[in-house]
Amino acid sequence: MNTKVVAVRGTSADEEIIKAAGEIIQAGGLVAFPTETVYGLGGDAMNPEAAGKIYAAKGRPSDNPLIIHICRMKDLPVIAEDVPEAAYLLAEIFWPGPLTMIFKKTHFVPADTTGGLDTVAVRMPANQTALKLIEAAGGFVAAPSANLSGRPSPTVARYVIEDMDGRIDMILDGGEAEIGLESTIIDMTQEIPVILRPGRITEEMLAEVLNRVLSDRASMEDVQAAPKAPGMKYRHYAPSGRLTVVEGTEGKVVSYINRQLEADRAAGKKTGVIGTDRTTGLYGADSIKNVGSREDELSIARQLYRILREFDDEKIEAIYSEAFAETGETGVGHAVMNRLLKAAGYRVITLQEK
Ligand code: TXA
Ligand code: MG
Repeated sequence: MNTKVVAVRGTSADEEIIKAAGEIIQAGGLVAFPTETVYGLGGDAMNPEAAGKIYAAKGRPSDNPLIIHICRMKDLPVIAEDVPEAAYLLAEIFWPGPLTMIFKKTHFVPADTTGGLDTVAVRMPANQTALKLIEAAGGFVAAPSANLSGRPSPTVARYVIEDMDGRIDMILDGGEAEIGLESTIIDMTQEIPVILRPGRITEEMLAEVLNRVLSDRASMEDVQAAPKAPGMKYRHYAPSGRLTVVEGTEGKVVSYINRQLEADRAAGKKTGVIGTDRTTGLYGADSIKNVGSREDELSIARQLYRILREFDDEKIEAIYSEAFAETGETGVGHAVMNRLLKAAGYRVITLQEK
């Protein structure tokens, strides 16, 4: 298949492009598009065959349900049943935006889209190209992240092209995603809503609106437990190299990582490090990535997946990352560490103070 790559830049020229992209989706084809979180791989959510194509293009197990993206509130009841009042409150505050809510599905939603579940995940993304595309496509676009299964989600079109060229009809290049991590997922079918995947909309932000909110620790932290968001059980976000997260005081972390790097290099491995403004000058590795200031969690979130991809481009075999605070001002550190630990397959070294 010949994949067309087209830039969208917020000008009037986009209109024709988005119209054509919408027609591709309506005809059962696949279009990758930018969102504020990561790039999505979109197909018609109401067409079971499109779901099949999405799973095939990603190499993704078909029991892993897709998020349906909408562009206007009036479309929500078409796909979701028993929507609680609290969900409308959340939508009013956080939609369009990086929040996905799970509801009971209506009979209009094909089981292929929801991986056989009787619930449906819904999100209204905060990105003009995405919203216009959803409208042009008929209102309901099923879209997982536009990466091959298991790889870090793409935050720039370049990595969508790398994974999807030849597998889908079209890629809309809308520049770098602002947030860089996938949406927060909250299950609204429970008496007390449960967060299944942490993201830019934090537990604290949700708790300000809801009376009570829980976190599904099985989805977020424990690899062995059965997570409620089926996708959270798969090895995820992982670079090809072996990633280890090292936590402890700065001095100890730097010297531990340097010792490991020396051993890896002696063994002939290509090495990489993820550090911050204060530390990157202190490492000896083939590739050193600076996420910026340790305090700027939003910047770390934006860059993480791109950095993991760059290590793959550079064929880095042994990667070490500093750990980042989970308790910063924006609360996004929690989502960053959730993804970083998954990418590392939970390989964490904790250095104790002596
Ligand atoms: O930010 C995002 O959410 C991006 C952009 C493209 O919108 N999309 C995304 O989709 O991250 P995906 O497919 O890579 O991740 C969706 C997650 C999976 O872990 C899946 O198992 C879970 O949502 N999910 C989808 N429907 C569900 C449902 N009905 N019940 C529980 N979990 C569900
Ligand atoms: Mg994904």
